[in-house]
Amino acid sequence: MNSIKIIVVAGARPNFMKIAPIMESFDASDRIEPVLVHTGQHYDEKMSDLFFRQLGIPSPDVNLGVGSGSHAVQTAEIMKSFEPVLISQQPAAVLVVGDVNSTIACGYVAAKMGIKLIHVEAGLRSFDRAMPEEINRVLTDAISDILFCTEKSGVENLKKEGVTASRIFMVGNVMIDTLLKNLEKAKQSPIMQQLNLKPGSYATMTMHRPSNVDNPDVLVGLLDAIEVIQRDIPIIFPIHPRTRNNIVKFKFADRMKNMPNLRFIEPLGYLDFLLLNANAACVLTDSGGLQEETTVLGTPCITMRENTERPITCEVGTNQIVGTDTDAIIAAWTRVQNGEYDKRGIPEMWDGKAADRITQILLDILG
Ligand code: UD1
Repeated sequence: MNSIKIIVVAGARPNFMKIAPIMESFDASDRIEPVLVHTGQHYDEKMSDLFFRQLGIPSPDVNLGVGSGSHAVQTAEIMKSFEPVLISQQPAAVLVVGDVNSTIACGYVAAKMGIKLIHVEAGLRSFDRAMPEEINRVLTDAISDILFCTEKSGVENLKKEGVTASRIFMVGNVMIDTLLKNLEKAKQSPIMQQLNLKPGSYATMTMHRPSNVDNPDVLVGLLDAIEVIQRDIPIIFPIHPRTRNNIVKFKFADRMKNMPNLRFIEPLGYLDFLLLNANAACVLTDSGGLQEETTVLGTPCITMRENTERPITCEVGTNQIVGTDTDAIIAAWTRVQNGEYDKRGIPEMWDGKAADRITQILLDILG
């Protein structure tokens, strides 16, 4: 039997933990021949190569080396360099994950060339079109042929948008495959000793969403809340390049001097950050993926956004959506201290087997 060539696309940091189990599962099947394309959207060692090494992802077969730029420039550059790859590779399908610019850029090129498009993590909706990721999600789903969902809201959203039911598959969460596979390994990380931390005695924080960090008024409100919370507990903050650049640009560096317990560190590798989040008293974030990871780890999560595209993490998990208001964030921290968000349930099919379900379904459809 002929092998089935599938181009797997990855571009930005949150893609890497999603493609790792898919590449492994494809490699283990004797029928699927994966070709890995890295768009180069993220390129710093700590935002990209480190994840490939730690997660055992094979080196990309092709690196488009596109780098940063405005949304239009970045998306267009990815499209321009991806098209010749499809022409020379002639794959049976292209698989994209998540909601970053690389996802829609490569999906768009594939669909226009009549190549089957597979979207992993389909159907998630924040219903907030001010989020660049929401636009990427809606557009990618609209042109995908095979749509894999992580939670039931995704299935329902796609059906409401008119996607034929036979193209939608609930398979669970590939990012959680990676988490469950690496949890034991993460416990070997020296990061707790390096930062001199004891389990349960600190919080971690991530913050990089443009709506939070590109607007000085919003960023000030968040920093005011953080100033209060860090009086109670040390906050470990691996800072994203976008946030670091904006703190300098808005001349906020002086404000940080009033926050001795806010500890800035460089972006961390996957294993170090996993261990820190597993042992944290609380996670403060505006990320999408961390809402899911904290749910599985049983760590209370304060999400500093007005909405979530991952409602299951609030329904059964440890997540609270609190918005960006200073007092609301502080009130959420009080609820965490009162134990209201301690370990709750695990969403359906978040069991470490999502990538194998995807492989089986693709073999049935494309084989
Ligand atoms: C992208 C994704 C976002 C995801 C985030 C995770 C889109 C629309 N957004 O946002 O969904 O949550 O990745 O990190 O695709 N930079 C570096 N080094 C790098 C990469 C970026 O210094 O390796 C800096 C550059 O100044 C760049 C800025 O970060 O302009 C933003 O990078 P970009 O890829 O445009 O978006 P992110 O904010 O990282």
